[in-house]
Amino acid sequence: MKEALLTTLRNKKTSIAQFRQAAEKLGLILAAEAAQLLEQETISIETPLAKTEGGQFKNNLVLVPILRSGIALLNPFLHFFQRASVGFVGLQRDEKTAVAELYYYKMPPLSAQDDVILLDPMIATGGSAIDALNILKEKGAHEEKIVFVAIVAAPDGLERIKKAFPKIKIIVPAIDERLNNKKFIIPGLGDFGDRFFGTDVPG
Ligand code: URA
Repeated sequence: MKEALLTTLRNKKTSIAQFRQAAEKLGLILAAEAAQLLEQETISIETPLAKTEGGQFKNNLVLVPILRSGIALLNPFLHFFQRASVGFVGLQRDEKTAVAELYYYKMPPLSAQDDVILLDPMIATGGSAIDALNILKEKGAHEEKIVFVAIVAAPDGLERIKKAFPKIKIIVPAIDERLNNKKFIIPGLGDFGDRFFGTDVPG
């Protein structure tokens, strides 16, 4: 299923409606995978017939989409994690240097106990993710409690992130070949944000 959805996202003939639908569905699958990495606690409940034990998530969860592409994953994650708070990190990539600048930041209070899921579909150089992870750590998040969810990664960018933050957990279904000289992932899927938000259409 993940492969079929990724293929739809990669195909340049995919319409904006199909792209959004595939991103939403893949986001739901990734949210379910991320859920498996969060700490659970055992609780006692009663079914209509008997006492039994069940599980529930132990900690507060903060979802942090990196603007703007991360927004595409927010809805499917909120579908599963309805009580999560949401923080935003806005990082704008300079097209020439690929260096990211922080232009927006709004975060709920973070405690070391909180689970944090960082959302950004594309890992190119890894620069934006590293900046966002540094900010999250500065604001009180614990590296061990951060799950980073992406859709496609370039190998070098992914390695940079793993080296800088060896204790975070990373979910990324596709690791592609390389970056081109414009820092786009090859084969990749093009500019995720442009395709999801429709900003690649002239006018
Ligand atoms: N961001 C994208 O949207 N696509 C890439 O290929 C790289 C970064």
